[in-house]
Amino acid sequence: MGPKVLKKGEKFPLDENCHHYTKLNEVPWDIQKYWHQRFSIFEFYDYDIHLTDSAWFGVTPEPVATRIARDLSTHPIAQGKRVLIDLFGGAGGNVIAFALSSGRWDRVIAIEKDRSTLACAQHNAEVYDVYDKITWVHGDCFEVMRRFWGVRLGKGTMSDGGPEEDKEELDDLLAELKLEECLVFASPPWGGVSYRDQEVFDLSKMEPYNLEQLYEACTMPEHEEEEKKKQVEQKEGGSAQAQTQILPQALFLPRQSDLNQIAALVPDGAPKIDVVQYCQKGASKALVAYLPGTIDAGGKEEKKRSEAKKQLSEEERGQKKRKQDDEQEQAVPKLLPETTEEASVAYDAQEDVDLYDTPKTDNAEKRKRKRRRRSSHNN
Ligand SMILES: C[S@@+](CC[C@H](N)C(=O)[O-])C[C@H]1O[C@@H](n2cnc3c(N)ncnc32)[C@H](O)[C@@H]1O
Repeated sequence: MGPKVLKKGEKFPLDENCHHYTKLNEVPWDIQKYWHQRFSIFEFYDYDIHLTDSAWFGVTPEPVATRIARDLSTHPIAQGKRVLIDLFGGAGGNVIAFALSSGRWDRVIAIEKDRSTLACAQHNAEVYDVYDKITWVHGDCFEVMRRFWGVRLGKGTMSDGGPEEDKEELDDLLAELKLEECLVFASPPWGGVSYRDQEVFDLSKMEPYNLEQLYEACTMPEHEEEEKKKQVEQKEGGSAQAQTQILPQALFLPRQSDLNQIAALVPDGAPKIDVVQYCQKGASKALVAYLPGTIDAGGKEEKKRSEAKKQLSEEERGQKKRKQDDEQEQAVPKLLPETTEEASVAYDAQEDVDLYDTPKTDNAEKRKRKRRRRSSHNN
């Protein structure tokens, strides 16, 4: 079966894999730790939030999801973007928060391949009053992305069977989307909890999808890029100082992910990557890498900026050296990154580290929501 866009109002029923645990003795042992934190995961857990047993491990806690939704809505990579595509919808942690940023997105699309998890996400979105603000797609996001590019190239078919009606429905949805208005958010599975034991998480070994696979799925296939450059050359004559468009992405990854691997994704000349650590109670839960979507192929602006930076840092280095010579043995040793690339990533990561506790919410609105939910729950 290929991916299926659910029709307006179409809901997958909760099934035997979807649970709302109310007592500790109902909860499988390996989930108990998460269940104890259920209200930090979903503030309205008691209003019948449902999860599959595996969704407990991957769901983004509500305060983190809220903060990401807020950051993403105003981030420079989101400029001009009106459609948000969540490739790995899960039980709805992130996608609900995106849909709650009402007015920011014309459309929020959630893709999830596991039917029971999607049923939970739809149900949870209903608890948060945003069920009908989300376009739900059941299926493999890689297949959807292949189709996304296929529709733009006017070729390609879905790899497997499935009803023609579903394919048309998906093609219609994808054809409606303007590439320059789309922003992709991805919170892929991290391959279980073993990532915690690693000092630096190797993203090339992330399972079942590594960083490169994810990135490739979201990047315009090379031949189309070439085509685009040729068109610019023909139109303008001379060499292409083209704006090569890739799909911008926000990637939700383990907190200790290898930043050099993330940096390597973006070609020379592209704007810098922001990496933000999202923390709860003083500890990082995960990072989000905000990747720039448009590349100045000539890299002129970026070259100018780095030249200026180089000059400045040479001067700074000279000053520093003189100071160090003066201070001699008293100089305090410092851990400096060894390469420019490393330095730039380290700089970005430090600049953007964003510790936070409880997100500020509008209390009146919160009370109103609670009352509304309570009365609908009692009815
Ligand atoms: C880490 S969870 C996402 C959690 C989600 N952000 C949330 O807050 O609830 C990853 C999800 O991706 C789904 N998934 C895995 N492979 C997929 C694929 N190829 N296409 C779509 N969904 C996929 C899994 O079933 C799982 O629910």
